[in-house]
Amino acid sequence: MAPQRIDRRALPRHIGIIMDGNGRWANQRGWERTRGHKAGSKAVRKVVKACRRWGVEVLTLYAFSAQNWGRPDFEVKALMDLLAEFIAREWEEIMERGIRVVHLGELRKVPVEVRKRLLSLEKASRKNRDMTLALALSYGSREELLRASRNLARRVSEGKLLPRDLDLSTIDKALYTSRLPDPDLIIRTGGEMRLSNFLLWQSAYAELYFSKVLWPDFTTEHLRLAIVDYQSRKRRFGLTDEQIQDRL
Ligand code: IPE
Ligand code: IPE
Ligand code: MG
Repeated sequence: MAPQRIDRRALPRHIGIIMDGNGRWANQRGWERTRGHKAGSKAVRKVVKACRRWGVEVLTLYAFSAQNWGRPDFEVKALMDLLAEFIAREWEEIMERGIRVVHLGELRKVPVEVRKRLLSLEKASRKNRDMTLALALSYGSREELLRASRNLARRVSEGKLLPRDLDLSTIDKALYTSRLPDPDLIIRTGGEMRLSNFLLWQSAYAELYFSKVLWPDFTTEHLRLAIVDYQSRKRRFGLTDEQIQDRL
């Protein structure tokens, strides 16, 4: 059977990927976990290029969670070094391909070298229009909601916002993702079926796709399969089939 092709007219606008399984990939080979992270960072490139080629508007990559700070120091350091390397290595290609880079997460905790490089890339790429690559780094969805709540509470206490004027869009705008559409498709590699604090608010109606493939082994072919699967789903957003048909 010929492989099913992606329908370019029905692409997910925003794909989020939980890139999991680096440690297990390395362990299976009797190697240190950090070698898995290195292989994982290499797998990113092709996936970004494929999304850009297919016409996905936003790709969010979960690179490091707020909870990942609790890992052993040498692993955290290795991950941060790889991030800095990734930015330097991919800079030219990101600019050539018209990709805008943004970050989601608490950057203040990130080592200054990585932070500086990331902020420079964001600045340099801010006018690029062909795709947005959002890096969720030092990101936790609960932490994001807590930060938004604090900011909104401050505005209320200063009399700049009335509680009755607070609505869903006020909350959307207070999140790191304020300028991004909600994710349509969340992919998690590595076989676990959980979200691990990733875009909890924003994923209210996202389609979820779980792959057993460990992140370093994830290819554009696996991504294609995920998108084809997404395109076979029927999204209803709480309505009936008939209502959805009428809207099309
Ligand atoms: C994902 O791989 C990368 C990060 C969380 C930074 P893991 O390091 O979680 O790999 P496993 O889940 O232990 O295999
Ligand atoms: C989620 O993976 C975070 C990233 C992929 C960056 P984890 O490996 O940290 O998640 P848990 O611990 O299995 O839930
Ligand atoms: Mg993991």
